[in-house]
Amino acid sequence: MSSSILFVCLGNICRSPLAEGAMRAEAESRGLDVEIESAGTGKWHIGDPPDPRAIEEAQANGVDIAKQVARQVSAQDFDRFDHIVALDGSVYADLLAMAPESGTAEVSLFLDHVEGRGGEDVADPYYGGPEGFAVTWDDVTAGAAALADKLDG
Ligand code: 4NP
Repeated sequence: MSSSILFVCLGNICRSPLAEGAMRAEAESRGLDVEIESAGTGKWHIGDPPDPRAIEEAQANGVDIAKQVARQVSAQDFDRFDHIVALDGSVYADLLAMAPESGTAEVSLFLDHVEGRGGEDVADPYYGGPEGFAVTWDDVTAGAAALADKLDG
C-alpha cells in the first residue's frame, strides 16, 4: 500500500531535510512505495537548499540531499499527506494548532515512533557545531527505521 509522509521542523534546512533523506534511503532499501517530502513552520529559508553541514552529514552517510529546496508547511498539506511528522515538541504543537478541522493527516512526533524514546525531540543542530549534525543523523535514521517498520507491517 502506498502512503505519504511530510517531515516538518522549523527552518526546513537542517533536521527535516535529513529526515527526508534518511526516510528515502530506508524506503528504497525496503522497496516501500512511499511519497516523502519535508517543510518548515518558519518562512526564513523558503527556496534555500539545506544547510551545508546537513548536506555534508548526509553525504558522509551515502545520501544526497543537496537538491532539496526549503518550503513552508501549508494548510493543504494536512489533506495531501497521510502522515505529518514533527521533529520536535514545539513544532508538533504548532502543527496541531494550525491543522484545519477537515485535515486528514495523522500528526505525530518523530521519536514517539522509536521504542524507548517517546516524547524526545530531535535537537536543533543549527546553532552548534558539525558534531550536532551527526547526532541529528543518528536520530533521524532511528526514526526512519521505526516508521518504515510501521508502514511495512
Ligand atoms: P531546522 O533548523 O529547523 O532543523 O531546519 C533551523 C534552521 C534555521 C533556523 C532555525 C532552525 N532559523 O531560525 O533560521
